[in-house]
Amino acid sequence: MEHAEAQRSLAHPLVERLLGIMDRKHHWAYPALTRGGLTRSQLLVHFRHEYLVYVRDFPVLLARALGNVPPLVEVRRALAENLYEEQTGGLSNTGPHPELFITMMRGLGFSRDDFADDDESIHPAALAYRDFLLRESAAMPWQGAVALLTIFLEGSANERAELAGTFVRERGEEAVLQHPLVQFYGCPPEAMVLRRAHAEVEGDHRSDAWSMVLSNTQPGSKVEVQIYAKCDEALGLWLRYRDGVAERMGLTRNQLAATRM
Ligand SMILES: [Fe+2]
Repeated sequence: MEHAEAQRSLAHPLVERLLGIMDRKHHWAYPALTRGGLTRSQLLVHFRHEYLVYVRDFPVLLARALGNVPPLVEVRRALAENLYEEQTGGLSNTGPHPELFITMMRGLGFSRDDFADDDESIHPAALAYRDFLLRESAAMPWQGAVALLTIFLEGSANERAELAGTFVRERGEEAVLQHPLVQFYGCPPEAMVLRRAHAEVEGDHRSDAWSMVLSNTQPGSKVEVQIYAKCDEALGLWLRYRDGVAERMGLTRNQLAATRM
């Protein structure tokens, strides 16, 4: 996105509304994941959920959304590029991101079989969120599906700071060495290719995400309301999903507060 165009589109009323949602994409159990002290089985519960809920099928979710996009060259290009990277790693010269995730899990000592799709190993709230993503990625309006996948799902609670340029994701070798999986859980740095792939392409994909949605949504339109409603519903389901994972990991708010470092 050109600078002037970027400035113009960030004045879109939808930006503040969606950032209000992203600000709340934080879960109380998150701090437990960025420091040491979890058991192997707790780690596996968390990562198996992440893999089965959205990592494994993220490229397909993007493809479903792309399938509803009218002949808007820029939007189709940006989505196709994101899909290509996710399913092949062709832009970052790495590999399919779901496979890179498994590589990272192998680095932790888990096997592919640990990530078999088994409804029993997934919390009902995780299944509800997964079903929602599958259904809504193919629903109209397409702007809602694109916002859901590229802004809500791929974005984080740092989105506001990233847009403002005050938060820059860590990259490079140093970021890999400081990653909690390497620092606390013995994952060899060379198994962290996923991290490198994301550092390579994510900046462009963040700005593409906003420009696809904002350039094609009239302020005050019904579509704008629908985009907001879809992302807001996603946040509610995501929070219940993360509650479910914390429950399966045996984490409680009190316990976490008591051990805060
Ligand atoms: Fe990815």
